[in-house]
Amino acid sequence: MKALVITRFGGPEVLELQQVPDAHPTPEQLLVKVEAGGLNFADLLTARGGYAGTPKPPLTAGREFAGRELTGNDATGRRVMGYTQWAAFAEKTVAHRNLLWPIPEKWTAEQAAAFPVNFFTAYFAYWKAGLIDNAAGSRVLIHAVAGGVGTAAVQIGRILGIEMYGTSSSEDKLARVRELGLQHGINYKQRDYAEAIKDLTRGEGVDAVFEMLGGEHVAKSVKCVRDFGRVIVYGAATGETPQLDTRILYAKGASVHGLWLSYLSANRPLMESAWRRLSEWLAAGKLHPVIGKVFPLEEAPAAYTLMQEGKNYGKIVLKIS
Ligand SMILES: NC(=O)c1ccc[n+]([C@@H]2O[C@H](COP(=O)([O-])OP(=O)(O)OC[C@H]3O[C@@H](n4cnc5c(N)ncnc54)[C@H](OP(=O)(O)O)[C@@H]3O)[C@@H](O)[C@H]2O)c1
Repeated sequence: MKALVITRFGGPEVLELQQVPDAHPTPEQLLVKVEAGGLNFADLLTARGGYAGTPKPPLTAGREFAGRELTGNDATGRRVMGYTQWAAFAEKTVAHRNLLWPIPEKWTAEQAAAFPVNFFTAYFAYWKAGLIDNAAGSRVLIHAVAGGVGTAAVQIGRILGIEMYGTSSSEDKLARVRELGLQHGINYKQRDYAEAIKDLTRGEGVDAVFEMLGGEHVAKSVKCVRDFGRVIVYGAATGETPQLDTRILYAKGASVHGLWLSYLSANRPLMESAWRRLSEWLAAGKLHPVIGKVFPLEEAPAAYTLMQEGKNYGKIVLKIS
């Protein structure tokens, strides 16, 4: 079968379309004919060898996908979207049966491939912040609000009645996220976001920050929270090691919480409770993956480059078959 292979660790130039042996499921897994794959920041890190647990190359790229369950060679099974650690960007893939979910009726494969990572991660960010129930009126600062996870967090925040503040490098991206329900866009190229939060909340701060930049931004995000606020850390997109002197947590009783979907995805009860909530919102037509651009699989290096340069809006999707 055809697959997008990471031939050695490096940038988008290490990706090659190659013929590889067919995927074979274990008893806990199901085989899926893949129609589309969702590109994640984690895919850039995996290609560079910077994602924890990545096997040595050559390996097939991709961690989320949408397609149809296969029985033998017949793609007659249900339409599914799924999550795996590697090997999603191929004509066929396998995933644990607990990490496959039915595609909402009328959704395209591209829309479905943009769902699992962004929406489960955003859901768990609110859950870690203690804001899933009775959180109306709480305030959250969402970094990279116009990205994949960011646009999912805005949709969930809108359902939960959260007052949202979001950062981006671009006015154009912020204007588009406002249409999804973001109330306060902050262009960090024009304005220091910690100052902006202070002004916009009359010095009070926010209840939680969704932090995925790393470097100085962990400590700076702690400065943005109010008493007992929580900073949810889930990435380091700047490539800089997160910096935090934990003594700054004392004054406000603030806390920092880690979030890693790869780890949480192995916790079946937790994933099921998240899916129960997400599927209710899906059934009510309240969640819509935001797709910035679709690339054919052959153009995967261009898709990776777009994400690497931080120029994407919402999700980048690869069309596979
Ligand atoms: N822990 C987990 O389980 C988990 C799961 C999913 C994602 N993540 C993390 O969440 C973050 C967002 O992931 P995503 O896939 O949704 O990506 P994304 O937000 O769609 O893309 C990254 C965005 O980050 C912003 N950015 C700021 N500084 C950047 C830099 N130095 N280089 C590149 N981008 C930069 C850019 O937006 P602006 O130009 O608008 O600032 C860019 O569009 C990543 O750090 C990722 O590793 C973690």
